[in-house]
Amino acid sequence: MTAGVSRVLAATLAAASLAACSPAKPPAATIVAAPESSIDRGKYLVAVMDCNGCHDANAFGPTPGTPATFLAGADVGFHLPGLGVFYPPNLTPDPEAGLGKWSEAEIVAAIRTGQRPDGRVLAPIMNWRTYANLTDADAMSVALYLKSLPPSPHRTPALGSPQTVKAPYLTVVTPEQGLKLPPPSPPPATSPS
Ligand code: HEC
Repeated sequence: MTAGVSRVLAATLAAASLAACSPAKPPAATIVAAPESSIDRGKYLVAVMDCNGCHDANAFGPTPGTPATFLAGADVGFHLPGLGVFYPPNLTPDPEAGLGKWSEAEIVAAIRTGQRPDGRVLAPIMNWRTYANLTDADAMSVALYLKSLPPSPHRTPALGSPQTVKAPYLTVVTPEQGLKLPPPSPPPATSPS
């Protein structure tokens, strides 16, 4: 796929994200590793929650999930009309390209509340409203696992608008914005009897 080429993703993807409500969770500072949190549990959760389905440098290529690209950030973004184009970031602990400077509590906050350490709220294509349902122990397990990965220096494209980004993206169309179906055609004329 080339830059500027967009495809329509299922409308339900964005609509479900936007419609979901997030239960109240404790602020990041109060979250500590529960005794039952573990890297192995985080590995399992990251696999079944398919984080790599978006956060892989080769997510839409022929060989996603290789050690070199696993969770190292995607070069294909998601265009949410009216919000921007968002590239799933590098989740490995590289201090510059990834989450190396984030604490485990900050990672948990981003996953469950969408709050980045700089205060920006993550776009709803990142399913944090659903992930808000993770228990403290499971959310911390995911953070511990991400911190245990080998760091990757892969840098993802910066977020932007369709006019400014250079890398490919998929366009997510919500029913309100995109699915304007033509009016139903009139019934076929019946011949007079
Ligand atoms: C449907 C695609 C998708 C899936 C699945 C997904 N993410 Fe994301 N994620 C994104 C996108 C896109 C962003 C960037 C959003 C933005 O910048 O506003 C993001 C951002 C993040 C961030 C913030 C990182 C930063 O540098 O700002 C974290 C942490 C994160 N995701 C973790 C996860 C984890 C853990 C999982 C699995 C449990 C996961 N994501 C699953 C698409 C996804």
